[in-house]
Amino acid sequence: MERVKVKIFPNETNELAEEIANLIVSEINANNAADRRTVLGLATGNTPLDVYRELIRLHKAGKVDFSRVVTFNLDEYYELPPDHENSYNRFMFDNLFNYINVKRENIHIPQGLIPTKDIQDFCQNYEAAIKAAGGIDIQLLGIGRDGHIGFNEPLSPEDSHTRMVELDKVTLNDAVREFGDVKLVPTRALTMGVNTIMQSRRVILIATGDHKASIIRKSVEMPVNPEIVASYLQKHSNATFYLDQAAASELTRSSRPWVSGAVDWSNPVLQHHAVTYLSQTTKKSIAELDVGDFVVNLMEGLLKEVPLATLKTKVLNEIVGKIVTNDRLPVKKSVLIMAPHTEDDVVAMGGMMQKLVANMNDVACVYMTAGAANVLDYEAQKFAMAKLIYSQHMGDKVALEKEQELVSNVTQYIAKKKASRFGLPEPIEMTTIKAVVREAEAASACNYFGITRCEFMNGASIEKLHHIFDKYHPSVIFACGDITDPNSAHRLCLRALIKAYQTYTVKDKPELWLYRVDSPEYSPIDADMLVPISTVEMESKIVGTIYHQSQNYKLQLGAKQLWQKVEERMQSQANLMKALGVTGYNSYETFKRFSAVTPAQTATTAVPMQTTPAATVQSH
Ligand code: F6R
Repeated sequence: MERVKVKIFPNETNELAEEIANLIVSEINANNAADRRTVLGLATGNTPLDVYRELIRLHKAGKVDFSRVVTFNLDEYYELPPDHENSYNRFMFDNLFNYINVKRENIHIPQGLIPTKDIQDFCQNYEAAIKAAGGIDIQLLGIGRDGHIGFNEPLSPEDSHTRMVELDKVTLNDAVREFGDVKLVPTRALTMGVNTIMQSRRVILIATGDHKASIIRKSVEMPVNPEIVASYLQKHSNATFYLDQAAASELTRSSRPWVSGAVDWSNPVLQHHAVTYLSQTTKKSIAELDVGDFVVNLMEGLLKEVPLATLKTKVLNEIVGKIVTNDRLPVKKSVLIMAPHTEDDVVAMGGMMQKLVANMNDVACVYMTAGAANVLDYEAQKFAMAKLIYSQHMGDKVALEKEQELVSNVTQYIAKKKASRFGLPEPIEMTTIKAVVREAEAASACNYFGITRCEFMNGASIEKLHHIFDKYHPSVIFACGDITDPNSAHRLCLRALIKAYQTYTVKDKPELWLYRVDSPEYSPIDADMLVPISTVEMESKIVGTIYHQSQNYKLQLGAKQLWQKVEERMQSQANLMKALGVTGYNSYETFKRFSAVTPAQTATTAVPMQTTPAATVQSH
């Protein structure tokens, strides 16, 4: 049961951001017309970015005047200077305030540099300023994976006000994305309290991406629970959760719609989904399911639509029909593999890469972002030293001088960064070496698989992507279909690629197949192609993953290395298949055909990857 109002929007569209921005603009316009101020409570992080872009667009289009708007931000890291690249003060100016006509004196953001002795006063004044402004009309919220709103971590009191808090381990780890190293993440923050948020007249919580799906289910469907602070919003009279389908995917209405109400059991996708769900819940293979399982799990309606034996055979055959062996993969065609980061292709489809090469296809790998993130500083230093040592060996005096300077700059930067509390902006030469490290790793992993054509785009635009398509004339394109954070590199690349693909008008349009890296693998229900990977291919894939050495450093004791995650992921897919009753293979890679390909386009595709059943099975 959903205990708070929820609105769900399609993935990969801007509809969610547009609806919220329009709602905010209507409020401002109505208040402006009545000569009243509008008080907005604002959040930072990746989640509200699309709303802010839309507000800026509407302002530039003359649709909204922010001159009477007063803003209060939720939070700020304690001790972080306001101009630090990860400070929330800076975030707000970089992503909104610099582009709209809000008055500087109307902007309120907690300040990270307040001396400890003044914090209590500062927090009380912040609360008083909200009250003096007339209270918050619309409060925007994101949600942390631990359920925090603002920085109200689990067990924050319901009656809490603006205050200093200690950050949770989950929050600190999530902030590594911005700070690069958990040691650099501030451990404390100033935040509005739960009560401060609850006092707002209207609350809009936004969650996008499948990494938020689990906490959204708990916040929406479980009773109010101090462990999950967002669940307090169930008590608010005007709170709405705005979700994309990815974040809503674990809600009962999405994962088990038959429990929430009447469903159309004639829908084959739902039949497929229900039977595989039942098999997993009961821990029985599909063939073993009986009438009682359907009744107990509120699915007897399905058996009225399709008799049990027919249903089981049908679903099993559908799954088996998705298994695609080497002989049904493209042969001697041009195949383009697009990856957001340099290791994504190997991680998701290292087995497929080998098969494509074995089938004598002309394979090219194109990496869409520079990928300098997530390379340890010491790894960059090692490469700078390798360049220096190489020049020494070659007796190249000119190069030697340059390499010495590079090593010394890198070493100095590392020392300064170590001495700093919250890290330093990275100099361009450091970022460049890191990108080079990753490019070299990708090129050598490709080479290991026998792929000699690879290139690095350093940012993807529609024009650049069309240029790539024109250059390689692919019959088939593979790309990353992750549905994680919409402002993550993976999903931004996907958006750009989909746009480029949709606007790519050629006679023989290539097929577009999606793989997953950060999101869970496509399940046997969602996938259109399940590709069994042999033990030998699996071993080579692991070696290919290890070529991405910079991504295999996990320094915490017990943390899984990238190649271990790859192995686990593929085996879990095979275990799932075995549990459903489809045995025979120990690991799979899974792919989904991009659905916007119309049947007419599919028919003219040069290399159809057949997904019609290779064999059928009978259920009893
Ligand atoms: C930010 C804030 C946080 C974030 C939350 C989600 O001002 O208060 O609660 O909303 O941590 O962060 P993102 O949006 O980056 O996933």
